[in-house]
Amino acid sequence: MPKLVVTNREGETSEIEVEDGLTVMEAVRDNGFDELLALCGGCCSCATCHVYVDPAFKDKLPEMSEDEDDLLESSDHRNETSRLSCQIPLTQELSGMKVTISPED
Ligand code: FES
Repeated sequence: MPKLVVTNREGETSEIEVEDGLTVMEAVRDNGFDELLALCGGCCSCATCHVYVDPAFKDKLPEMSEDEDDLLESSDHRNETSRLSCQIPLTQELSGMKVTISPED
């Protein structure tokens, strides 16, 4: 099972094990991080699943779609490592990736 290292808004970091095939958003939400609202349930239309992704994994991530890019543009907290976590299926290749939940918009 892939592992994911999650840092919450308080700056606390924990490692979680994730069932194959879940998205990063589902993995984080299902492990009790309520601050990741994921209001649209993963249809790429809310941007409340915004995370910062460890730059070391950038090349392994799926390409960003235009919709994701547009939604991230609406955030005041976007930086070059920003992604919508519902758009990243967690594969074994991404095991060990660090994500940080972005501040609330
Ligand atoms: S959950 Fe809404 S965009 Fe990701």
